[in-house]
Amino acid sequence: MNILVTGGAGYIGSHTCIELLDAGFTPIVFDNLSNSSTIALDRVKQITGQTITFIKGDVRDAEALDHVFNEYNIYAVIHFAGLKAVGESVEKPLMYYDNNVSGSITLFGAMERNTVSRVIFSSSATVYGDPATVPITEDFPTSTTNPYGGSKLIIEDVLKNIHIAHPEWNIALLRYFNPVGAHKSGLIGEDPNDIPNNLMPYISGVAVGKLEQLSIFGGDYPTPDGTGVRDYIHVVDLAKGHVKALQAFENPSVDNLYTVNLGTGKGYSVLEMVAAFNKASNKPIKYQITDRRAGDIACCYADPSYAKTLIDWEATMGVQVMCDDTWRWQSNHPTGYKTND
Ligand code: NAD
Ligand code: WQD
Repeated sequence: MNILVTGGAGYIGSHTCIELLDAGFTPIVFDNLSNSSTIALDRVKQITGQTITFIKGDVRDAEALDHVFNEYNIYAVIHFAGLKAVGESVEKPLMYYDNNVSGSITLFGAMERNTVSRVIFSSSATVYGDPATVPITEDFPTSTTNPYGGSKLIIEDVLKNIHIAHPEWNIALLRYFNPVGAHKSGLIGEDPNDIPNNLMPYISGVAVGKLEQLSIFGGDYPTPDGTGVRDYIHVVDLAKGHVKALQAFENPSVDNLYTVNLGTGKGYSVLEMVAAFNKASNKPIKYQITDRRAGDIACCYADPSYAKTLIDWEATMGVQVMCDDTWRWQSNHPTGYKTND
C-alpha cells in the first residue's frame, strides 16, 4: 500500500519511512527539501535495502500534488511537512501560517479532489500551552503562545471540520512530545541547519565539540532541580506510532477522527538529560545556567495511556538509549549529512 509521506526526508519522516517499509507499506516521499537532504533517503536505502520514490515538491503546489495522486494509488497520507522553529515563527508569522496552514489546506484539497481520505497529522504537545497539571491527557484545554503552535491548532481545527463534512475520512491527530534520538545504525538522525533551538541537538553539539557550551534556560523553575522538565521520546518509538495509527484506520472500533498523545509519560529535567548524555558520550558537557527562555514552561509530560488503549502503541525506549543513539549519529557525523561516510 502506497503511503504519501509529506516531509518524509526530514528528521521524523525519514525514521518513519524505515518503520513503514518494515511493516510492508510503500512510502512515497514528497518534500521541498527546505530543511532536509535526500542523503537521508539514501541512508534509509542503506538501512532497509529498499529504494524510496522521492518527489521534490511543495505542499502549497496543488498541481504537483494532483500529479502525485494521479500517478500513484495512494492509500493514506502522513503529513509531516512543515516549519517547526518556535522562535522563528514569532519573527516570521506569515511564513509559518503560509507554509504550515496554507500548505495543509492545499494538501487536504488535493486529497479531496483525488478521493484519498486517510490522513495522519503531526501535531504537537505545544497545543496544550502551559498545562494546569501534569500528566497531560488529550482532553486538556488547548491554547497557543506562538504562531507555530497557532498553525498546529488551526490545522487540527481544519481536520475536525473536514471530519464533520466527510465523516467517512480517517483522521489521526498525533500530538508528539519531545522527539529525540536517532536510528540505532547511526546513519540517520536530526540535522539542524543552523544553531539548534532544541535541547538534545544542542547538548550533542557541545559533546562533539561544535558548540562551546550549553545555556540552560532557567534554574529556578518549580521542578525538583529547578530546570525545565519534558517528556523526551525516542524518534523510532514515535515513528512506530505512525504505523500503529495507520493500522488503526482498519479497526472498526476506532473512531474515524481521533487524537492521541505520543509521549513516554515520564518527565526528565535539563540537568538529568545532560547527565545521561555525559554517560552516553563520555564527554564533558559544559553548561551555564542562564535566564529563562521566553515562552518556556516549567513542566510538560504526557499521559500516554489513551494511545495504548486506542492504537496499541507505547514507547519502549528510555532516555539512556535516546542519548546513546543520538551520540552514535552525532559522533559518526559531526556535521550531519554534510559528513561523508
Ligand atoms: P523536519 O524539519 O526535519 O522535517 C520537516 C520536513 O518538511 C523537512 O524535510 C522539510 O524540508 C519539509 N517541508 C517543510 N515545508 C514544506 C513544504 N511546504 N512542502 C514540502 N515539504 C516541506 O522536522 P521534523 O522534526 O521531522 O518534524 C516533522 C513534523 O512534526 C513537523 O510538522 C513538526 O512541526 C512536527 N513536530 C515536530 C516536533 C519536533 O520537536 N521535532 C515536535 C512536535 C511536532
Ligand atoms: C527542552 C527543555 C528548555 C535548549 C519545543 C517546541 C515544541 C516541540 C518540541 C515542535 C526546555 C531547555 C533547551 C537549550 C535549554 N516542537 N533548553 N537550553 O521547548 O519543550 O519544545 O520542541 O512541535 O513545540 O516548543 O523543547 O528542546 O527546545 O527544550 O535549557 O539550549 O530544554 O528550556 O526546558 P521544548 P526544547
